[in-house]
Amino acid sequence: MAHEVRAVVAKSKRSPVSIETILVPDPGPGEALVDVEACGVCHTDLHYRDGGIGDDFPFLLGHEAAGRVCAVGDGVTGVAPGDFVVLNWRAVCGECRACRRGKPQYCFSTHNATQKMVLADGTVLSPALGIGAFAEKTLVAAGQCTKVSETDPAVAGLLGCGVMAGIGAAMLTGDVHLGDSVAVFGCGGVGNAAIAGAQLAGATTIVAVDLDDRKLELARRFGATHTVNSERQDAVAAVRAATNGFGADVCVEAVGNPKVLELAFFARDLAGTVVQVGVPTPEMSFPEIPMIEFFGRGGALKPSWYGDCLPNRDFPLLVDLYLQGRLPLDEFVSERIALEGVEDAFSKMERGEVLRSVVIL
Ligand SMILES: NC(=O)c1ccc[n+]([C@@H]2O[C@H](COP(=O)([O-])OP(=O)(O)OC[C@H]3O[C@@H](n4cnc5c(N)ncnc54)[C@H](O)[C@@H]3O)[C@@H](O)[C@H]2O)c1
Ligand SMILES: [Zn+2]
Ligand SMILES: [Zn+2]
Repeated sequence: MAHEVRAVVAKSKRSPVSIETILVPDPGPGEALVDVEACGVCHTDLHYRDGGIGDDFPFLLGHEAAGRVCAVGDGVTGVAPGDFVVLNWRAVCGECRACRRGKPQYCFSTHNATQKMVLADGTVLSPALGIGAFAEKTLVAAGQCTKVSETDPAVAGLLGCGVMAGIGAAMLTGDVHLGDSVAVFGCGGVGNAAIAGAQLAGATTIVAVDLDDRKLELARRFGATHTVNSERQDAVAAVRAATNGFGADVCVEAVGNPKVLELAFFARDLAGTVVQVGVPTPEMSFPEIPMIEFFGRGGALKPSWYGDCLPNRDFPLLVDLYLQGRLPLDEFVSERIALEGVEDAFSKMERGEVLRSVVIL
């Protein structure tokens, strides 16, 4: 039996999203049906709406979600009806060449639901990041459900994408250590999570860079020791000034912009690491950097897919740190909205008014 539920759909490139009735099948083998309780609005949803990620319209948006499993298909043993879960977009396969080489964080063949969710007229939907959780119910691969301690779903759900990507960009991809200096460029949900991750890892200097003073003020709350408004200040010089003239050990680009990547590249100490967690659009090119600077500065330039996380290892741990008061995840929730509020939330995001608007279902 298919379930009729309300959902947020992007029907065509750059058009406002709409609320549609969709049909969600009962779970088949290896699948789980989830009652979504909360789902955050991520910049990646806006990239989908604007055609920056692909042309497979209509997209069923939403992918930073927590909820409760309501049914599972044959052969599912990892989760059961009633479990409180955060949805993830890295259900590792265990068999691809990355998994076999012991690097499941790069899994090239992650699992999603096999059956399709459709519009009332039968049009097949493309769920954002294989999740599609701006919907009362969604269908995922059972491995996309990660059990965590019971907590506020609006908070836990954010770990499903942007907040995990940011924390992981600093702690896992950037491998920030006790006493390191870190600079984070772009302090939205992802960048501020990188700041929180840098603090958790013991960084002693954390420089936040953004064009918006409101974001810089928030960055202080997550652990930034210095803030730089790159519209008014030379960001590279300011990061150097905060790090005894040397530059930061780890620079995190959390915007998705070649100009910002260039700043991050030059704001780094010798042998430092640049982490690219912001997602570029297809027309962007790598900044023109003299090759001698690439060689001469050494270190590493590392893209970070989903913060190199392993959901089943990292989500429960981060929820527990939150419950112990050691990670202020609730500070990312700027407002709680209804499904109807998603388009408006995109505008608020573009105007820089929120870290995360979270849809409560
Ligand atoms: N790699 C991943 O796995 C992953 C996961 C989730 C999101 N993302 C990406 O991370 C990026 C950030 O997402 P978000 O949700 O935090 O977005 P956001 O819109 O909330 O934040 C972006 C921030 O960048 C700032 N900014 C914009 N242009 C800037 C510039 N030129 N210099 C300095 N700061 C600038 C904005 O003021 C804003 O604070 C997006 O590209 C998103 O798609 C990546
Ligand atoms: Zn794999
Ligand atoms: Zn996201």
